[in-house]
Amino acid sequence: MSSKVLKIGQISDIHIGEDENLVQGIDVRANFMKALNSPSMHGIDLLVLSGDLANEDAEPGAYEYMRDQVAKMSIPVCIIPGNHDRVEVMQNYFDLPVKNGKCYYRFDFQGRSMFFIDSACGEVSQDQLDWLEQEIPKVKEEVLLFMHHPPCFCNHRFMDLRYHLRNMVDVRKVLNKFDNLKHIFCGHYHSDFCVEIDGKTVHVAPSTQMQIDPNAPYFNLKSSAPGWQVINWGEDFVESAVHF
Ligand SMILES: [Fe+2]
Repeated sequence: MSSKVLKIGQISDIHIGEDENLVQGIDVRANFMKALNSPSMHGIDLLVLSGDLANEDAEPGAYEYMRDQVAKMSIPVCIIPGNHDRVEVMQNYFDLPVKNGKCYYRFDFQGRSMFFIDSACGEVSQDQLDWLEQEIPKVKEEVLLFMHHPPCFCNHRFMDLRYHLRNMVDVRKVLNKFDNLKHIFCGHYHSDFCVEIDGKTVHVAPSTQMQIDPNAPYFNLKSSAPGWQVINWGEDFVESAVHF
């Protein structure tokens, strides 16, 4: 592993609409740009867009906008779909590795390995779990995993109840096999959490669209201020910080 500290910007749940009209009264494009251009993101080596790029149902205009933003970047951008995305539409705009309709891949960068999996349908397919079992042990050093849905409950009353990862028990059984996986990065919950599960830390990034009140069992808007996550990955540490 290289001794350089790898700085990763994670932007999640962007919910861009078909056009420039506000989405639920929120300027989601401006929110995205605020995250991208924030001082906390300066000097990132890699940008991760961890799902729900589109607002409701894979609006092509959303992907066109995101494609244009990604094209301007001089660093690699890793993308995974969320439950409001559809891989078959995203493929028209982004060069994504897709197998059996799912977008999952390993990305090796600056001597590190990161894994990206697709939970857009609300589950992680058995194909992907089998692939992780084959691929992660090939890496001797620490790896990071990115997925849209947290593989755990997060004490968010609304999201845990309505939109949790359905096969989290099966997913966790597989993730527990990897001693070199200690940090998992997610989004989806429109809230920020750090949850310890089975000796691993799940870092849940906030959304750039809006934050949802974790204490109400129904949808309750907490804030329309954008949030994002910055990860610093050194030789012997992984740190994450959430910014608004
Ligand atoms: Fe989501």
